[in-house]
Amino acid sequence: MSSRTASVRPSPFRERRKAIVIVGVLAIVTGFFETATIVAIVAFIEGVTSGDLLWEVTTGPLDLAFDRSGLGLIALSALLGMTACQLVSTWATARATTGWQYQIQMRAIRGYMRTNWTIQSGETSGSLQNLMNLSAASTASLASLMALLSASGALVIFATGAFLASPLAAAVLVGTGALSMLALRPVRARSREATRVATIGQRAVTEEVGQIHDLAQEIRVHHVADTIEEALRQKSWDVRQDRRRAAIWTGAGSALYRSVGLAFLLMGAFVASGQEDLDVARIGVAGLLLLRGLGYGQRIQNSWQKLENNRPFIEQIGDAFELYERHTPKRGNQRIAELGPIELRDVSYTYGGEIHALRHVDVTLEPGETLGIVGPSGSGKSTLAQILLGLREPSSGTLLAAGMPAMDIDANDWYRRVTVVPQQPKLLRASVLDNILFYRPWIDEDEAIAAAKAAGLHEEILALSDGYDTTVGDAVRDLSGGQRQRLGIARALAGSPDLLVLDEPTSALDAMSEAQVQETLAQLKGSVTVVIIAHRLATLNHCDRLLVLEEGSVRALDTPAAVMAQNDFYRNAVEMQLVATHDGAS
Ligand SMILES: Nc1ncnc2c1ncn2[C@@H]1O[C@H](COP(=O)(O)OP(=O)(O)OP(=O)(O)O)[C@@H](O)[C@H]1O
Ligand SMILES: [Mg+2]
Repeated sequence: MSSRTASVRPSPFRERRKAIVIVGVLAIVTGFFETATIVAIVAFIEGVTSGDLLWEVTTGPLDLAFDRSGLGLIALSALLGMTACQLVSTWATARATTGWQYQIQMRAIRGYMRTNWTIQSGETSGSLQNLMNLSAASTASLASLMALLSASGALVIFATGAFLASPLAAAVLVGTGALSMLALRPVRARSREATRVATIGQRAVTEEVGQIHDLAQEIRVHHVADTIEEALRQKSWDVRQDRRRAAIWTGAGSALYRSVGLAFLLMGAFVASGQEDLDVARIGVAGLLLLRGLGYGQRIQNSWQKLENNRPFIEQIGDAFELYERHTPKRGNQRIAELGPIELRDVSYTYGGEIHALRHVDVTLEPGETLGIVGPSGSGKSTLAQILLGLREPSSGTLLAAGMPAMDIDANDWYRRVTVVPQQPKLLRASVLDNILFYRPWIDEDEAIAAAKAAGLHEEILALSDGYDTTVGDAVRDLSGGQRQRLGIARALAGSPDLLVLDEPTSALDAMSEAQVQETLAQLKGSVTVVIIAHRLATLNHCDRLLVLEEGSVRALDTPAAVMAQNDFYRNAVEMQLVATHDGAS
């Protein structure tokens, strides 16, 4: 099962392989130095006990002899070398892991911001934060991998050293490690499974907590805090149980490894003691290497387990990146001077393969034209608006602008010329001016003020305590619904767009503000292409043409007067509004 995921997804750490190789090589060198230190110490002790402080090495062509100071020098140099290697290794690990976390966080932000609107709008409010938090787990995994490598490097050298000193001891060393790791496989699997389940549970809790913030007002007025708390308590309790199980299995793995390792070591010592020709120095070297090797073996076991436990997090990150990046729209790089006519050619749109929101829509918008879109709730108006904005790509058919598919147009050119006033514009916690500019440095202050004037907001902004510098969007200084709406309009107008899409822009406004907005729209007429989704007759009367959508299909597309004559839905809506207005007046 594990090999399947491994083969589908390349190693998540391959971008850090340079650091991984460096740490691996340093581990081997460190192991070499440590072995040399151990050998020198044993030789020293043996020399002292036998009263003959001359250590001879005869291996193959080598025939060396070291006296006391020679041995001391070897031990000291090896010690220095070992320290240096470990310091460099620490530095390389720190560099790689912190760099890795930074890289993952940036990739999460970038992926989330660049992915298409369908994916992005389908995410829960906490999902990006969740990914940011998961980057810590991924970093921990990289650290574990590096720890695993350095311990393995040292162990390989120890095994070699032990083999030279005593083949039997080496067999014990390698056997101990391998058998203990093998014996603990079920324990690691349990630990990994419990961690995985806890991760999924935690993710559900995090996402639900995110919703609490989004729904804060509704939760209060419906007085359902107790129920939500109870549901969260149950889920958190389950997560706690899974975490506890994971912690126990992880701890047990570590403890068991030590015991099993020592047991194997004891057996090795027992077998060795039965040997005929005992060489004190060799046994000493092998024994010390075995003990140190056991420590490294334990580090391998711990790191391995951490690596396995963190795998669900890494998979979660990998899945999110894969999803975001696979759905990142590829826009072309055609530069355009102006948008020109905008054409929807046989456009259909289907949500999730089954909800047919738009069916074979054909319409061409001439520059400067004002098109009103009307239709019953759920008839596809907002979907059509999102297609015009380039937020959603048609499931079939094409959106054309400047004589080419809109997707071929350079993203900067497109989004500078196409803009929207949403139904409920959101505020940044920033000054009014920054709210109008909205991260677009190419718009200057005068343009922002002109846009505020056009949106009928200028006088009200001047009346605020610090005028355009007043911070809005926080608890102290919020704007009213109508002011927000007009700020949204100012934000859209500030960039001097060619196409302005308004999705029920006046639904939150009082009659006075609505009249102001209509006047603004009337002034824009001819200079900007306007697409406006509206229910109010007063707004629709300004339009050059009306498009009636019903069940995703175009039922009428003509001047308001002609549509009035042709289309029952529109005629009924108008008559009802006339009655309502009349009732309101009487
Ligand atoms: N994100 C979505 N996922 C799945 N289905 C959706 C989504 N958004 C809209 N729909 C469905 O697509 C259809 C058209 O929705 P749309 O929002 O375009 O209608 P609308 O005309 O704007 O309605 P309203 O006047 O109520 O705003 C509806 O059946 C709706 O349920
Ligand atoms: Mg809508």
